[in-house]
Amino acid sequence: MNRSSIGVFDSGYGGLTVLKEIAAQLPQYDYLYMGDNARAPYGPRSFQQVYEYTLEAVQWFFEQGCPLVILACNTASAKALRTIQQNDLEKIAPGKRVLGVIRPTAEVIGNYSKTGHVGVLGTKGTVSSGSYTLEIEKFFPHIKVSQEACPMWVPLIESNEHQKPGADYFVKQHINNLLAKDRDIDTILLGCTHYPLLMKKLSWFIPGGVEVVEQGKIVAKSLADYLERHPEIAGKCSKGGKIEFFTTGDTADFDEHAAIFFGRPVKSGQLAL
Ligand code: DGL
Repeated sequence: MNRSSIGVFDSGYGGLTVLKEIAAQLPQYDYLYMGDNARAPYGPRSFQQVYEYTLEAVQWFFEQGCPLVILACNTASAKALRTIQQNDLEKIAPGKRVLGVIRPTAEVIGNYSKTGHVGVLGTKGTVSSGSYTLEIEKFFPHIKVSQEACPMWVPLIESNEHQKPGADYFVKQHINNLLAKDRDIDTILLGCTHYPLLMKKLSWFIPGGVEVVEQGKIVAKSLADYLERHPEIAGKCSKGGKIEFFTTGDTADFDEHAAIFFGRPVKSGQLAL
């Protein structure tokens, strides 16, 4: 394959909420999206497993010719990015780059809070890695971070059950748990790229005055800045506005669900990792 698109990866559909914003801010580039739906969710999986799956995905993107891959998945960013950047990249693809979504989000999230109390909702893997607490501390040492893992949310969203009344219990439970950890929270970060799909429901259960922050636009802005600062990488990324989609799962299923996340029709190809 000889694509020079920007690769965008997620365990399933969630990364499409990020790709949507990236493609809106940087429409001139080509993109190649891949969701590892056959092995989603990544949230409950071990460090080793998420690392191995993510590395396989990154290698696939490199084989396709992508000079740059965005892990549009917090779980993969938390559990695999650092090892890939520090140990693997030099060996498998010197000159290529892999970026995640946690650092760009941590860099700005403190600016949203007036009280200095931020809540983070994420998968079990992201929360237990402690990545958000560590990264936010680097940029905003005065901010108090409280976290809550929401293990049911991704399965509900991936199975398209999140809109139904049965999902309300799980949504409400985790919001209440988070707010009980710190009553001064005025900013809640959706630290999982699937969660923007719950936005409407979240607004029913989150008190007014608490801002809910999605990552898509933040990551897109950070990528735009990165490409500007790194013309040697930007120059390798092809331009043409083409977007291709692949899934390790069922393509008909993917196309149906993906259109909801991406906001326009999607036609995917199949791949086995
Ligand atoms: N969308 C992914 C994230 O941002 C994870 C979903 C999963 O558990 O696979 O963490």
